[in-house]
Amino acid sequence: MEVVIVPDAKAGGELIAGAMAELLRHKPTALLGVATGSTPLPIYQALAAQVSSGAVEVSRARIAQLDEYVGLPAEHPESYRSVLRREVLEPLGIGMDAFMGPDGTAEDVRGACEAYDRALAEAGGVDLQLLGIGTDGHIGFNEPCSSLASRTRIKTLTEQTRIDNARFFDGDIGQVPHHVITQGIGTILEARHLVLLATGEGKADAVAATVEGPVAAVCPASALQLHPHATVVVDEGAASKLKFADYFRHTFANKPDWQGI
Ligand code: PGA
Repeated sequence: MEVVIVPDAKAGGELIAGAMAELLRHKPTALLGVATGSTPLPIYQALAAQVSSGAVEVSRARIAQLDEYVGLPAEHPESYRSVLRREVLEPLGIGMDAFMGPDGTAEDVRGACEAYDRALAEAGGVDLQLLGIGTDGHIGFNEPCSSLASRTRIKTLTEQTRIDNARFFDGDIGQVPHHVITQGIGTILEARHLVLLATGEGKADAVAATVEGPVAAVCPASALQLHPHATVVVDEGAASKLKFADYFRHTFANKPDWQGI
């Protein structure tokens, strides 16, 4: 995997948005896998700025969801479908007809999970998947000890994750669903390019375990080591526990310009 250390979140967002724009110039119908959470917002802002300036065209791009709460109506403001509509699709001017995600309201949840895995494959697979990382190393809602071969499935949230996410539900943990549908780690690994952004010292231990630790289900993000094209973009805080930080800085500074990330 490639590790890129950037000065701050804004620079990380611009670097990744640049890679997305480059992909869209080569493949205007690219399927972009997007993530929720606070970390990816600078990516979406930078990409929207590129669209406004005419540097890239997204009218044929397609968007795929990483995970979703079970039981929240799609129109609920905190369903991830609603969040992504507000934070990604509307600013980019992409319509919901170009959006795909699992049905968190399905009565047959297992069937909805299988249907989403099939839909991703039938759409030709995800070209570039954005990922955040939890302080416990989770990607999507694949919490520690999720199978590295897992497919899209239902997961029961840990109490800590529900406490963390209560900030989006008026601070009321009672409103946070217990269950989610998440792309599995095996599903995520099928995307052609994985790009993980982590910012802040709070993510430093998880980033060190992901990049320099063993491949282990206890740190789900370490599965990125198995992927032929995985990029981990970190600010100085998130990079602060990397033993190989100088090596990563040197290689990124000296790679050929045409290579991109
Ligand atoms: P955050 O969430 O970007 O809000 O820290 C990341 C995650 O839990 O995947």
